Amino acid sequence: MCGIVAYVGHREACPIIIKGLKRLEYRGYDSAGIALMNESLNVYKKKGKVSELEAFIAEKDVHGHIGMGHTRWATHGEPNDVNAHPHFSSSKSIAIIHNGIIENYAALKTLLLEKGHTFQSETDSEVFINLIEDIRTNNHCSLEEAVRLALHEVVGAYAIVVLSKDDPDQLVAARKGSPLVVGVGQGEYFLASDATPIIEYTSDVIYLNDHEIAVIKNGELDIRSKEDVKQTPYVQRLEMALESIEKGGYEHFMLKEIFEQPRSILDSMRGRMIAESNHMMMGGIREFENKFVNAERIIIVACGTSWHAGLVAEYLIEDLARIPVEVEYASEFRYRNPIISEKDIVIAISQSGETADTLAAIELAKSKGATIFGICNVVGSSIARATDAGAYTHAGPEIGVASTKAFTAQVTVLTLVAMIIGSKRGTLETTKLHELMVELENIPDKVEKALQLDEQIQEISAMFKDATNFLYLGRGYNFPVALEGALKLKEISYIHAEGYPAAEMKHGPIALIDAQMPVVVIATKDSSYEKIVSNIQEVRARKGRVIAIVTEGDNVIPAMADYVIEVPETSEHLVPLLSVIPLQLLSYHIAVMRGCNVDQPRNLAKSVTVE
Ligand code: F6R
Repeated sequence: MCGIVAYVGHREACPIIIKGLKRLEYRGYDSAGIALMNESLNVYKKKGKVSELEAFIAEKDVHGHIGMGHTRWATHGEPNDVNAHPHFSSSKSIAIIHNGIIENYAALKTLLLEKGHTFQSETDSEVFINLIEDIRTNNHCSLEEAVRLALHEVVGAYAIVVLSKDDPDQLVAARKGSPLVVGVGQGEYFLASDATPIIEYTSDVIYLNDHEIAVIKNGELDIRSKEDVKQTPYVQRLEMALESIEKGGYEHFMLKEIFEQPRSILDSMRGRMIAESNHMMMGGIREFENKFVNAERIIIVACGTSWHAGLVAEYLIEDLARIPVEVEYASEFRYRNPIISEKDIVIAISQSGETADTLAAIELAKSKGATIFGICNVVGSSIARATDAGAYTHAGPEIGVASTKAFTAQVTVLTLVAMIIGSKRGTLETTKLHELMVELENIPDKVEKALQLDEQIQEISAMFKDATNFLYLGRGYNFPVALEGALKLKEISYIHAEGYPAAEMKHGPIALIDAQMPVVVIATKDSSYEKIVSNIQEVRARKGRVIAIVTEGDNVIPAMADYVIEVPETSEHLVPLLSVIPLQLLSYHIAVMRGCNVDQPRNLAKSVTVE
């Protein structure tokens, strides 16, 4: 949430920062701002998208070789010009950009008001910069020292960059709980919430750790701990192609990412399985093989779409590896004093690897001695680094706020995990394992085929674009898919949608069904097929309009559903990888037809770094 970017070097800073903010806009987009140092320290900010800021500064003098920018997802104070970052201190001599939340800002603000500081905005970030100024004035110390001392006073999460009029060649940055990456170029440095604004200029990056302070001064980078101990940075070479963060001819990132799934699913299984030789391997599991084999319980923690992937994994792991699984919302788990033992394995799933609640759930489980296995998409992210072991999903950068390819990559990796543990525990016999491997290898081609349904789904979308409610029903492996379909629709089209296990309908939701209610039923051929056919009849009997996702060649459901979408046949265990595809396309087209901004839906941000 919130994107920050800063630059110091030989180039003009402004174009680099504006371009970087556009790349980070998926993290928040309710206002944007920039601070540039030339003869003085100038701050320009504007409510709305980065393009509005760009238009606003078009006539201004924005030259300079050092500066910073911010794109905001509001936490404290409504989105407007004043609450936008950067924020000046009262004297206007220093400015800050901040991603995170300062929890004790109210108490600090009271103290600072008593000392005569003044505030323009309602933000916690303005309190932070005034605290730094106050410490600097009282201690007559350097900017770096004032930032360091301020970090001991604030409670909460932050990634910050500070720029001072009196230190015109210096950037001071720090992080705790919110990501910050340093890009190391030839005589130039970049700072950003993730690597996307940086890779165009350099592949060498340093992921700052919590409680570290980076000072870039006179072309030198110095990283120290909060206790002022010099740190040796680890420079990593990024393998991210520029095309992976561009739209590549698609109208939206979401559509591009939906269509990338044959490739991203393949990448997430690449090197981990060879069906021909019945060989499977996953580095993270190998390290903790005994723990996995002897685990008495697996707890999965995640949020949103990643939680849905976790639900699919519950079915997979319990069936194939016969270990009891509990799937928890990280936000509930972390606050309810859960019972966790050293014999438990906690699997944390997160696309961004930065979700605050998931990170806190990990820390809690760690403190109770559980082994933590992470499934993340973003390499080097906080969750990836906080876990004992793990597996990256390798889906490539996901920019659209609504998660699509990350979900199928997570399900693919979780399927591999279930198969590996099942085979090691002897609960998954070799022939069945081989069958699943062969079928998993076929999945990318079958996803490709499911994507050919796009035109048909577009036509169906036109029929339902004005609906005000939707129900999604599924059973077994398709129940989490129903939840995911409903989430996709509501988050990008703002149509109210609910996902239910189809059998639960009779316990309440069936009361909602009338001729106005579209009901998406995921009814592929599996062990609960007969049952879901009955559920469709129940919907029809109440005049609900049924859109059924069925297996190719189904000749029963077409006679009773209003619209039928056929996906290729596959094993029941792998069906979510196919049945989710039409649901992603349906939500995408409905949202586009309703004129919604699918890549940047209202009120949302891609990376939820606040709880
Ligand atoms: C929905 C969506 C969110 C995320 C959730 C967790 O399309 O993207 O529900 O799945 O915010 O995010 P990660 O996976 O980054 O932890």
